[in-house]
Amino acid sequence: MALYKQLALGAGLAALLSTAAHADLSGKVIGFSQIGSESGWRAAETSVTKAEAEKRGVDLKFADAQQKQENQIKAIRGFIAQGVDAILVAPVVSTGWDEVLTEAKEASIPVVLLDRGIDASQDLYLTSVASDQVKEGRVAGEWLVKTVGDKPCNVVELQGTVGSSPAINRKQGFEEGIAGHANITLTRSQTGDFTRAKGKEVMEGFLKAEGGGKSICAVYAHNDDMAVGAIQAIKDAGLKPGSDILVVSIDAVPDIFAAMAAGEANATVELTPNMAGPAFDALDAFLNGGTVPEKFIITESKLYTPADNPQGEYEARKGLGY
Ligand code: AHR
Repeated sequence: MALYKQLALGAGLAALLSTAAHADLSGKVIGFSQIGSESGWRAAETSVTKAEAEKRGVDLKFADAQQKQENQIKAIRGFIAQGVDAILVAPVVSTGWDEVLTEAKEASIPVVLLDRGIDASQDLYLTSVASDQVKEGRVAGEWLVKTVGDKPCNVVELQGTVGSSPAINRKQGFEEGIAGHANITLTRSQTGDFTRAKGKEVMEGFLKAEGGGKSICAVYAHNDDMAVGAIQAIKDAGLKPGSDILVVSIDAVPDIFAAMAAGEANATVELTPNMAGPAFDALDAFLNGGTVPEKFIITESKLYTPADNPQGEYEARKGLGY
């Protein structure tokens, strides 16, 4: 397993792009089946991928699937028909990929998975660039354990898209993180589909069901966008997010740092939007030199809290395509 170090943020989009020196991918045609634009993080991943492609001279064929697997499958078949040199895919859900990836393999087109995993034979893709999503959930859970100490704490969970690898793994990791701490109880858990609007809506339901929210100690959201939606719902209910109800989530997008700077969010686990840098490096080495990359290229998962200069983090990230 390769651990891909994130570059220091702060100097705009250029700072996030890969600086690795490789032959080059100029003139290569690469298809990218993106999930959609459900979150700020997703928008940043799209921007970074386009910028990385331009920097490397890649002719990137971009297809937005609008959250539908059937659209992704159609796009991949289109890329195969065009005879692209490689395919990037951010798989919306983890199952149902065998057939189309077998078609890509039979056409000798290497496929790289971005940011989400799939339940399929590893022979069907060249490599996967993603975070350790179980670890992300565990880091969030361990942060909560440390923060509440022995205090009783009822937690509500906003899950990501049903059937997606981050929703499955971040749930598992969080439960591992709080395991053995009987004072912490996961009382409610529902999908908010990784969007701000659904995060708010589901949190409103949780608050109503929990007597206006007085019995909720913390909300764990599988991404920052849902956390930002939940923060709004908590405020609308007359409570203070960040103190009456703790808020912990994943992504580290600018808006969660703005909320943190305002005292309304407590912790986030960073997910770099630069999955394309390591993916293009791997394709470069493979297409130009025949080097088979490691099967799993793992990005870092760093915890940020209000002690980590949230205003500075907000300023450093806001120009990065979010
Ligand atoms: O797969 C990565 C997740 O997808 C991000 O955490 C989330 O914001 C996005 O929608």
